[in-house]
Amino acid sequence: MQTLSIINLKGGVAKTISAVTMAYILAAEKGYRVLLVDNDKQGNASKMLNMHSYVYKGIETIMEGRSQVMAAIIQRTKYERLDIITANMELIRANLSAQIDQQGPPQQERIKRALSKVADKYDFCIIDNAPDINISTVNALVASNYVMIPVTIDDFALDGLSELAEQIENTKINLNPELELLGCFVTQYATGEGTDRQGEELLRRMQYPVFDTHIRRTEKVKQATFARQPILLYSNRCAASVDYRKLTQEFMERSGING
Ligand SMILES: Nc1ncnc2c1ncn2[C@@H]1O[C@H](COP(=O)(O)OP(=O)(O)OP(=O)(O)O)[C@@H](O)[C@H]1O
Ligand SMILES: [Mg+2]
Repeated sequence: MQTLSIINLKGGVAKTISAVTMAYILAAEKGYRVLLVDNDKQGNASKMLNMHSYVYKGIETIMEGRSQVMAAIIQRTKYERLDIITANMELIRANLSAQIDQQGPPQQERIKRALSKVADKYDFCIIDNAPDINISTVNALVASNYVMIPVTIDDFALDGLSELAEQIENTKINLNPELELLGCFVTQYATGEGTDRQGEELLRRMQYPVFDTHIRRTEKVKQATFARQPILLYSNRCAASVDYRKLTQEFMERSGING
């Protein structure tokens, strides 16, 4: 199982849309077995797949560190080959208890340990993260092979990027030598305006790797969210669907996976 974290300290840059859409493409179009992990108390990835709930156990159970039967934590979605570990506000309490818990399994390795139990059941695991560096996101980085950073071009586009890159580097050195930052990619790209083109060029001149593919802005994405449908099902040929297919292909090429 290859594990990819989608992360940025900034909110609203399309982390969740990207995680859900890539997971859907890998499962529905490429035929892989995919586990999507909602690692954000907002539970937006769970909501997008109509799976948000306080009935199921979810990521909070893993963060609490109690021994778990993964079959009780992983839920089937209505899409073939796509399963999910959901999140809700209970993650706040779970993270607080993880921070002070010296008895259970190491606090930074709880997601890694849980995922290792199902590593032979999935080809890919995609983790959607909160706009933060906290015990949850550190756990995600420890459990991941790859990181992708969605970026929107605005006045504050690069805020937090160096802190995040530093966190990734520290995790790589201290906790997870396999971790690789595959790159940033621009989302909500406005084709008509020069600003996004200039912003993307600026990003390419910085020290971070940048994907060739960017994701164009289209109203359809918001509509698909309201409809609780993956964008590819809502509008198969809209610009964002086309771009996310390209991005997923580029992800596979950059990570050396033949697809
Ligand atoms: N390509 C796009 N075109 C138009 N709107 C988009 C596009 N991608 C994302 N959006 C919109 O941007 C908003 C934020 O997207 P999303 O929830 O995926 O971001 P996020 O980074 O996960 O946010 P948070 O930090 O709150 O978790 C949503 O309203 C979504 O509909
Ligand atoms: Mg999100």
